[in-house]
Amino acid sequence: MGAGGLLRRRMLPSNGKPFETDMSYLSIRDLDLNGKRVFIRVDFNVPLQKNERGDMEITSDKRIKASLPTIQYALEHGAGVILASHLGRPKGKPNPEMSLKPAAARLAELLSRPVKMAPDCVGPEVEALLPAPGEVLLLENLRYHSEEEKNDPEFSKKLAALCDLYVNDAFGSAHRAHASTEGMVRFVPQAAAGLLMEQELKYLGMATSHPERPSVAILGGAKVSDKIEVIENLGRIVDRLLIGGAMAYTFLRALHQPTGKSLVEEDKVELAGKLLSQLGEKLLLPVDHVVVTEIAPGAPNEVVETIPEGRIAVDIGPQTIASYAAVIAAAKTVIWNGPMGIFEKPPFDKGTVALARAVAESGAVSVVGGGDSEKAIKAAGVTGKISHVSTGGGASLEFLSGIKLPGVAALETSK
Ligand code: 3PG
Repeated sequence: MGAGGLLRRRMLPSNGKPFETDMSYLSIRDLDLNGKRVFIRVDFNVPLQKNERGDMEITSDKRIKASLPTIQYALEHGAGVILASHLGRPKGKPNPEMSLKPAAARLAELLSRPVKMAPDCVGPEVEALLPAPGEVLLLENLRYHSEEEKNDPEFSKKLAALCDLYVNDAFGSAHRAHASTEGMVRFVPQAAAGLLMEQELKYLGMATSHPERPSVAILGGAKVSDKIEVIENLGRIVDRLLIGGAMAYTFLRALHQPTGKSLVEEDKVELAGKLLSQLGEKLLLPVDHVVVTEIAPGAPNEVVETIPEGRIAVDIGPQTIASYAAVIAAAKTVIWNGPMGIFEKPPFDKGTVALARAVAESGAVSVVGGGDSEKAIKAAGVTGKISHVSTGGGASLEFLSGIKLPGVAALETSK
């Protein structure tokens, strides 16, 4: 089905079971790209560090690799490709440490073809460099202009004037209503989602709108306050919510259980109590804990069911691992965001790594969001067994909270 109605496409997750998904926006596959200049908003907001020579070096090219299918698709279908992204938060001014030049160099290696680097993202110098079919031009950091984050219509128009077609593949930035993610959609003849954007929305959409049951959410991390909306929204959707990480102790405090010196958000205890009564048996909390007297790698630790005074809980214990793993083993859909303990300080990574393995072995459609859960999956060596690892931290959290992402809403409206 083409541009007109609601699209239904079949996706094949890694466990081999297809699922169908509704698409209320156009896909790059619906566009006639031949001979056109296509503006692809990518998320090349990659981590950088200065090397010994003082040059900025990319420490993870994951987001660049994730955008390759869309870029290659556009090139194979005869388009000239303009790529645009932000990098860091340069606050509306050029900052050489946040230049996209290293991304252009890495992309050229990955594509095995030249990538021209523009000195800016709008203006006559950029217009002089616009790509012919088969060429790739990367614009300089959009956030060198304050109008980008202000979603300024005049700036949006300037960006839109560079292209014939607009494609948003920057899922990681879709929660930002900026000129390049939202504003310019109004000023282009046609706007569509790129292949990465589609993949992110299909997996996250499937897991939150029509999950195969039983469906399970695993939520961890330090603070309840970061995940209140996610807990409330997923609480309405999933069959079981497994809580770990420091945020579990705010819930335990709400149940008047001892938490020792573990991290508790005192001002969120009441709210945690409300969530507990709202969600009832759906919400599971750790029943045992790994505790220490100080947080340091290799610090002496023990497993307890009741956290003693003066001790800090740093991971879920073996009974909790076993009961959470049993719930995960029976699941058909798993959503995971946030680690179960201080996993970056082994041996307090055991709970997180064990659950990563349980998710991988469950055969469920599994959707993982957030940088820490992704690192845990890597540490457990199971990355290839997860159906979808999101490239968006903030964007995937907002999606799981049930918030309509402005970048996606713009594509839907334009359709
Ligand atoms: C991200 O890394 O989450 C996105 O690129 C958005 O970046 P921002 O938080 O600076 O808007």
